[in-house]
Amino acid sequence: MKFFIDTANIDEIKKGVDMGMVDGVTTNPSLIARENKPFEEILKEICTVVDGPVSAEVVSLEAEAMVKEAKVLAALSDKIVIKIPMIMEGMKAVKHLTAIGIKTNVTLVFSAAQALLAAKAGATFVSPFVGRLDDIGQHGMELINEIMTVYRNYDYLSEVIVASIRNPLHVMDAAMIGADIATIPLKVIEQLAQHPLTSIGVEQFLTDWEKRTK
Ligand code: E4P
Repeated sequence: MKFFIDTANIDEIKKGVDMGMVDGVTTNPSLIARENKPFEEILKEICTVVDGPVSAEVVSLEAEAMVKEAKVLAALSDKIVIKIPMIMEGMKAVKHLTAIGIKTNVTLVFSAAQALLAAKAGATFVSPFVGRLDDIGQHGMELINEIMTVYRNYDYLSEVIVASIRNPLHVMDAAMIGADIATIPLKVIEQLAQHPLTSIGVEQFLTDWEKRTK
């Protein structure tokens, strides 16, 4: 399972990379806005520290304008993947970008029907948002199950990035389903390592070690 880190913060990305847990990065306009630096500067810096795909989102809502934005972003690095919102104009843009060899990540996916369209358009990655579905009282992880089934039925090559992850259970449920990728905030990557019995065990071993015959 690949782990992407879901942030535009370079310090968080470096921490995740140092842990050896970062196979790629996803950003979005909200995450970029928190950084108080120009978009392209942030992306270039991320691309220097990460060995893997880096998603950068367009903000236009019309296909031709999305393609124009995408070409500028894709020219920054061959690691850049263009994030496109799941709207019909977006699907037109994905088809065009795929045809000219630019990778895409279809974002804001909330139904298997949307994921089917994204795969048909040729998306490299598709990002269903589980946390935001949970937030409105729906089962986000059921969507992942449905999408994986549809993609397996037809051997679609689009990789599923489980997004909007809020806790370690989301990551583990995604892993049990066999999702290709989870994009995870640093805090949740760190939580995955934690278990109270591990902490108690480490402490106990150190205490016993001090009592050994010297
Ligand atoms: C995915 O690519 C998005 O950046 C992200 O996972 C959205 O998460 P949120 O619902 O916590 O904003």
